[in-house]
Amino acid sequence: MRITLGVSGGVAAYKAAELVRRLQQEGHTVQVVMTRAAREFVTPLTFAALSGQKVITDLFSDSSGGEANLESAIEHIAVAQRTDLLLIAPATADIIAKLARGVADEFLTTLYLASTAPVVVAPAMNVNMWNHAATQENVETLRRRGVKIVQPDEGYLACGMTGPGRLAGIEEILAAVGDVAKAQRDLEGETILVSAGPTWEDLDPVRFISNRSSGKMGYAVAEAAAKRGAKVILISGPVNLETPAGVERMDVRTAQEMHRAIMERLPGASMAILAAAVADYRPVERATEKIKKSARPLTISFEPTTDILADVTMNKGRKVVVGFAAETDHVAENARKKLVSKNADLIVANDVTAEGAGFDRDTNVVTLFSRDGRDLALPKMSKGEVAQRILDEVIRLRVALQAPAARRSNV
Ligand code: PMT
Repeated sequence: MRITLGVSGGVAAYKAAELVRRLQQEGHTVQVVMTRAAREFVTPLTFAALSGQKVITDLFSDSSGGEANLESAIEHIAVAQRTDLLLIAPATADIIAKLARGVADEFLTTLYLASTAPVVVAPAMNVNMWNHAATQENVETLRRRGVKIVQPDEGYLACGMTGPGRLAGIEEILAAVGDVAKAQRDLEGETILVSAGPTWEDLDPVRFISNRSSGKMGYAVAEAAAKRGAKVILISGPVNLETPAGVERMDVRTAQEMHRAIMERLPGASMAILAAAVADYRPVERATEKIKKSARPLTISFEPTTDILADVTMNKGRKVVVGFAAETDHVAENARKKLVSKNADLIVANDVTAEGAGFDRDTNVVTLFSRDGRDLALPKMSKGEVAQRILDEVIRLRVALQAPAARRSNV
């Protein structure tokens, strides 16, 4: 797992050095980010030597204190994307307040906002600062957002006082990281078939008909599923995207090729999530030579392609099958019809004409229509977040699908 360790400025900052070592021993890659205040207590060099990676300290300049450049200015986004878990230890009262408020005044606080990875915070501070209502309210805000707080230990503090506020023990912090990491890998043991992108249906050697799918939605699903521990097979139409880490990708061009690839890999899969925008029709004939221009209207006959989703659900068994519905009108009505006609467990409906939704956007606005009657309308969010919500729903449906079998085996 790629862990970003945020170190903020307190006496306990030196203990983060041991954390780096132990996290690495457990097989994690550690990227250290230090606040300005942390550098008053420990030098970046200590963490660079231990982690074997450049330590990130500033939002706008490189760690050597060089000139601000575009690369350093957007580095928090790159780090956010490659962070599987953000651990902040020690976390001062100041950094906790900033996280709670969404203040983005330096690299670590900006990274917290830019990242969708789970967050573990291990506070360390003076006892009165810890007990102060402001800190307790901020800690509660973070907890409500799903941040895991590692309760500080009680004992003699560097300030000379005794009470809660001492950084929790390394074992306790590692256990919290382990718990969060395990919860994130809730798709371990699953094999998920994901389709993404458009298909290209040839008219002649130089022309084809297609649609505006970029593949971003399907690739986001594949990436999120792989991060959550699934074996992912991505059947991809022609797109301009990099294969997400840990994903097996098969490239196809036409609806027919996509159908063949999906049916070939379906028997080994426990779930299928079909986000591809597959052509509904293909030309009856593909001209062997380029169709010549003429003054007369051109008529081309099309025939329907195979409905892959319907074919997948015909061989469904206990697999969880998710389809999408790209709609321009009567979204809910059409999506519910597709749920039934295609016999899917879940239909992810998007109004592709809505602002921030549909083709080639980085965000989407979807409603999840489930077989069991639950409709979940989600606000506009990144395609990565949409993917996570789809996977949450898939897990809920998997439990429901497996329940009758479990009950039968108890009889
Ligand atoms: O790729 P992006 O640029 O990120 O855009 C995302 C998206 C808009 C493509 C995506 O969110 C989406 O809506 N995908 C489904 C597009 C589509 O073809 O919808 P449909 O309503 O026409 O089809 C319904 C379902 O049947 C889909 O799951 C589709 O994969 C499937 N289908 C369609 C035709 C066909 N011959 N076989 C199929 O399996």
